[in-house]
Amino acid sequence: MASVHSLASTLQQHLADALKAALPDAGSADPLLRRSDRADFQANGILALAKKLKGNPRDLAATVTSAIPANDLIKDIEVSGPGFLNITLTDRAITGTLAARAADDRLGVPYAENPGTTVIDYAQPNVAKEMHVGHLRSAVIGDAMAKIMEFEGETVVRRHHIGDWGTQYGMLIQYLIEHPHELDHQDGKADGEAAMSALNRIYKASRAVFDSDEAFKERSRDRVVALQSGDPETRALWQQFVDESKIYFYSVFSKLDMEIDDPDIVGESAYNDMLEETCRLLEESGVAVRSEGALCVFFDDVKGPDGNPVPLIVKKTNGGYGYAATDLSAIRNRVQDLKANTLLYVVDVRQSLHFKMVFETARRIGWLNDGVKAVQLAFGTVLGKDGKPFKTREGETVRLEDLLDEAVERASAVVREKARDLTADEITERGTQVGIGAVKYADLSTSASRDYKFDLDQMVSLNGDTSVYIQYAHARSRSITRKAGELRAQARPELELAPAERALGLHLDRFGEVLSEVAAAYEPHKLTAYLYSLASLFTTFYDQCPVLKPEVPGDVAENRLFYSQLTARTLHQGMDLLGIRTPERL
Ligand code: ARG
Repeated sequence: MASVHSLASTLQQHLADALKAALPDAGSADPLLRRSDRADFQANGILALAKKLKGNPRDLAATVTSAIPANDLIKDIEVSGPGFLNITLTDRAITGTLAARAADDRLGVPYAENPGTTVIDYAQPNVAKEMHVGHLRSAVIGDAMAKIMEFEGETVVRRHHIGDWGTQYGMLIQYLIEHPHELDHQDGKADGEAAMSALNRIYKASRAVFDSDEAFKERSRDRVVALQSGDPETRALWQQFVDESKIYFYSVFSKLDMEIDDPDIVGESAYNDMLEETCRLLEESGVAVRSEGALCVFFDDVKGPDGNPVPLIVKKTNGGYGYAATDLSAIRNRVQDLKANTLLYVVDVRQSLHFKMVFETARRIGWLNDGVKAVQLAFGTVLGKDGKPFKTREGETVRLEDLLDEAVERASAVVREKARDLTADEITERGTQVGIGAVKYADLSTSASRDYKFDLDQMVSLNGDTSVYIQYAHARSRSITRKAGELRAQARPELELAPAERALGLHLDRFGEVLSEVAAAYEPHKLTAYLYSLASLFTTFYDQCPVLKPEVPGDVAENRLFYSQLTARTLHQGMDLLGIRTPERL
């Protein structure tokens, strides 16, 4: 499909050519083009250039301006201030470029120039434990980033590094051996809630015995050894826990309207057979050393409060392998077998030190090299309305499913209020799309590294930076199309544009640039900001530029319908990349 040069990139090219023609000795100077309020664009690069060439910036600006070859793009260019260029584009160029975008399935968005392979580690809950809001963030941000990168042409391998290995399974399995029917579902149903409540019950019960009964504790420890060495009976029971947990995970992911594929669930246990070798290689190369019986990696800049170095422990004194050994083994697998150029980890900022040490260790031994980039897309904490980490009134972790149900309930109330002619089924469907969209959008729209407040009232508000505001703008455009009857959307580049049309058009043209920025910097909040502005500009357009009123001339109406439809497509595409639905009606 044909990618389309954006107005900004074409303009950039004209200016760069003019700079080169007017000042052959200037080297490759950047015109520093920016969107501007005074005109459509402003070029600020002449100032720096004048300084370098010791010339008068205003004179230089005039010289460059006159060197711009004749073109259909620039309507007006003037020198302002100390030597800025204010540039206004022709209406013809705006509508013409949008027409080229509309003719393409991808809205003219080009593929990245040098795509590679990214392994993205996200949506990684823990077996036999309830998911919490932190798992929500990783899932939502990771899912959006994976889709955006794929849209840019990157090969994306998804890895759900679930916590499914470790000492607590010894306790759980031992308990199950001594109480064989605890995982059977009393009512025969194996839905997510039933699965979780069974796991919860076993967890609590086994914990109680573990804490009070020394002999059980001992048997549990032996059970861990049996698990790690692959004893078949123990493995079979462990598998039961994993399967049961997956039923639960899938119920949450499906509530989140998120597709997770079973082969992509590659948990900590998957690297078990590599752990010993990973440690051996680290020790042989001298990257890791024995310290107080443990195998450790030390860093000059990582010290505890007492000033003593805090090592990354890859193998504990008792011979057990920890989180670090698994992550280091996963790096070997992802780089050497999956051929990743980028490793992206969507993980809580509280694990940043762990990743810093793991990446540094992998670099020292060469598992990460110049050809591979490892990045933690670190996210902050979800806070309650009171600004403290999100908990129930009783101080417990909020159950993710309850939270999503509540969001859907609130959203359904908003939908019911807004559209009185919808059937009960329609309200349920829209309520789900709006409610889940609201939760995802709130998560995606603050820069990931910052904490954010989980405030359902704000999330489902029709005014402000919310998904429902954007969904509503989309539905409005779809409604215009439904009511358009015989009228066909048709770009009319010969027409002069009203201010609201120009502003909408210039913004529509930026979609591809925004996506490539978001993909390169892992910043989905820049896409939400773009879509929110697009919805706002569309709202102004909707108020100021009627499409279907009888007094609007035919060609103007066709052109406006074209603008409206391209807006709906862009909103839909952008929201889809964020994992948020855009219903036809609201
Ligand atoms: N399961 C972990 C947790 O719940 C997150 C795993 C992150 N990924 C990784 N490769 N360590 O905190």
